[in-house]
Amino acid sequence: MHARKTAQTALVAFLCLVSCPPLPAFAASVPGDPAPADAADVRIESLLSRMTVEEKAGQLSLFGPADINVPNNPQAGWRNAQQETADVRAGRLTGLFNNAGLEGKRRLQQIAVNESRLGIPLIFGADVIHGFRTMFPMPLAEASSWEPALAERTARAAAVEATADGFRWTFAPMVDIARDARWGRGLEGVGEDVYLAKQFAAARVRGFQGPDLSRPDAMLATPKHFAAYGAAEGGLDYNVSDISERTLREVYLPPFRAALDAGALSVMSAFNEIGGVPSTANPALLTGVLRDEWKFKGFVVSDYTADEELVEHGYAANPREAAKQAFMAGTDVSMQSGLYIRYLPDLVASGEVPMARLDEAVRRVLHVKQKLGLFDDPMRGLDGLPAAQRAENPEFIALAREDARRSIVMLKNERMLLPLPKAGTKIALVGPFAEGTIDLMGAWSLFPGQSAPVGIDQGLRAALGPGSSVNVVRGSGIESALPGGIDAAVAAAKDADVVLLAIGESQKMSGEARSRSDIGIPQAQQDLAEAVAATGKPVVVLLSNGRAMALKGAVRNARAILVTWFLGVQTGNAIADVVFGDFNPSGRLPVSFPQTAGQVPYYYGHKRTGRPTPANAPETAFKTRFVDATNEALYPFGFGLGYSPVRYDSVELSSERMPLAGTLRVRATVTNTGQRDAEEVVQLYIAERAASVTRPVRELKGFRKLNIAPGASEQVEFTLTADDLQFIGRDLKPVVEPGEFDLWVAPSAASGIRKHFVLTRD
Ligand code: BGC
Repeated sequence: MHARKTAQTALVAFLCLVSCPPLPAFAASVPGDPAPADAADVRIESLLSRMTVEEKAGQLSLFGPADINVPNNPQAGWRNAQQETADVRAGRLTGLFNNAGLEGKRRLQQIAVNESRLGIPLIFGADVIHGFRTMFPMPLAEASSWEPALAERTARAAAVEATADGFRWTFAPMVDIARDARWGRGLEGVGEDVYLAKQFAAARVRGFQGPDLSRPDAMLATPKHFAAYGAAEGGLDYNVSDISERTLREVYLPPFRAALDAGALSVMSAFNEIGGVPSTANPALLTGVLRDEWKFKGFVVSDYTADEELVEHGYAANPREAAKQAFMAGTDVSMQSGLYIRYLPDLVASGEVPMARLDEAVRRVLHVKQKLGLFDDPMRGLDGLPAAQRAENPEFIALAREDARRSIVMLKNERMLLPLPKAGTKIALVGPFAEGTIDLMGAWSLFPGQSAPVGIDQGLRAALGPGSSVNVVRGSGIESALPGGIDAAVAAAKDADVVLLAIGESQKMSGEARSRSDIGIPQAQQDLAEAVAATGKPVVVLLSNGRAMALKGAVRNARAILVTWFLGVQTGNAIADVVFGDFNPSGRLPVSFPQTAGQVPYYYGHKRTGRPTPANAPETAFKTRFVDATNEALYPFGFGLGYSPVRYDSVELSSERMPLAGTLRVRATVTNTGQRDAEEVVQLYIAERAASVTRPVRELKGFRKLNIAPGASEQVEFTLTADDLQFIGRDLKPVVEPGEFDLWVAPSAASGIRKHFVLTRD
């Protein structure tokens, strides 16, 4: 039923864009902006009135750098420097992306401003995803900190560095929810949970954009990929997302809304289709949701050649048709395909694209350029930047170390194997990631001039005390055995007090187009782990990973497991800080680790079904469970250990009844029962027992990170309002329904103290 509704909405939006009388969106001010025309609007309107149709199409066309093929993108629309210069001079492009280096940008900006007919400045964009010069942990790793404020700081630092290279626009944050660990791009986002993703989305936008977009160190943020790109069927990148409109609205859209509410002024459309309509040509999404419902004032940029790909999707008959479909649906700017500059003039001439729609899109782009201060000072950030601003910044390096150690999640620490004593410890550091720095930085370390990374071996050695040693043996390759590797590793293990096993995924095993059908440790490394474990020496797994992994055998049974993701420039130091106890690990999983690969997609907030299985029930008959695995996660969402255990003592509610218009206060007491300071992420979950549409078994609704002194108890208080209990009702609109709720205050999605309350009408 809802599918028909989606189609209707899409049709109405589409028809209106083609034939309805001019909407306020076509008036002189920016759509949705109630402010009267000011000087900026006058400038933009004056420009618009003088632009040719081709110049307008140029303002909607964005390209990668000439003569270079950026490794993270397929080769498409390749252009040489001569063409590029000619296009800038003719006003045939709005800007460039991933064109590193100040010199080239300065030259092109001068041509745009001084030699093009109308002197409209270019905008320079880049994939600044987790750092620019100082590479921070990948976003999924950073999400393990459960500290959005930290993500705001790293985004700010990245913006400071990238703007010093002339980039004023980032294609970040990625806010796609990822619930299938096979999907390779989960590491660019926040993981499986909507609430956590919303907090990080907003924080990263604030960080990139800073307090004022016109400041020279502000970067325009671009939440991406709109929408439901992470719901790809089978976890296969670029694949179909066939989800209900309810799931779209409840799970996939809210992080975008949070990013826009935080002030983001551009959005990137996604590659995928939803229910037969590719997102880049989906009017219900790009116009219906973004403009009509959310009153978004910025512009939509396509993903890389996503408009052209409408032909491959089988949605447009040819490239001209593709340009028309994407543009009329609401994709304002075309990335890399060149389709808009090629076809929009003709589409306008033939009346297939109204001039009003063209003006609307150009107005949006010029408005954002204006907000960035580019009209006032096009050379801002490009001219004579002090060298100091472009040099390595010790403060950012320190931030990277702090960020990296806060991103590490300790899953297991049997008999307190960790932390290791710094003095008098013989360590065998074994595994393909033990030394070297190739696989530390993460998928989006694109630009030259990055600060030198610290390898695991280097970090450990720098921290060692007297009488300790680190013997490094690779033992195996990442996906294939090394001749004699296992023998050498076993010998090193036998000679050591403890083995640190640096295994997992290489950087190339996750990221765009890096979906994996098997989310386990590659066999060659598994063999290495089994052989090393057979020596009987205690093993600490240092897991290098871009996704939740299915751990088995000696890896799963190791005495200690640290999830170390891709931690960036300070990897080795951060790992050493945790291994030797200079830092007490405080990360918590932003994704569930399943028992086996066959359980994926696996996420904590699933539905009950009509035949749920109680936790750990042995009975498989006629229940929603696999015959060969329980339904529990191996390590649940929200889980992580520290060196000081924390006990959840009590949870009190201000009342057992909460009126719709009222609030419910939830107070919990937690105690640090260990010997060291503890950091605890106290999590609040709810579930409505019965509603007009079924609800997940749990939903995160709040969290606090607490510092607790040894032996001390701390209280934490949450306040729930009706907004927290809202869901998407049968009519696909937000609704709150009185009824019975369970509530947990918990250290993870699979545990905690449970309470019950009733939501009443009054
Ligand atoms: C990715 C985007 C990225 C763009 C430009 C695409 O392949 O999906 O996330 O921003 O390339 O590099």
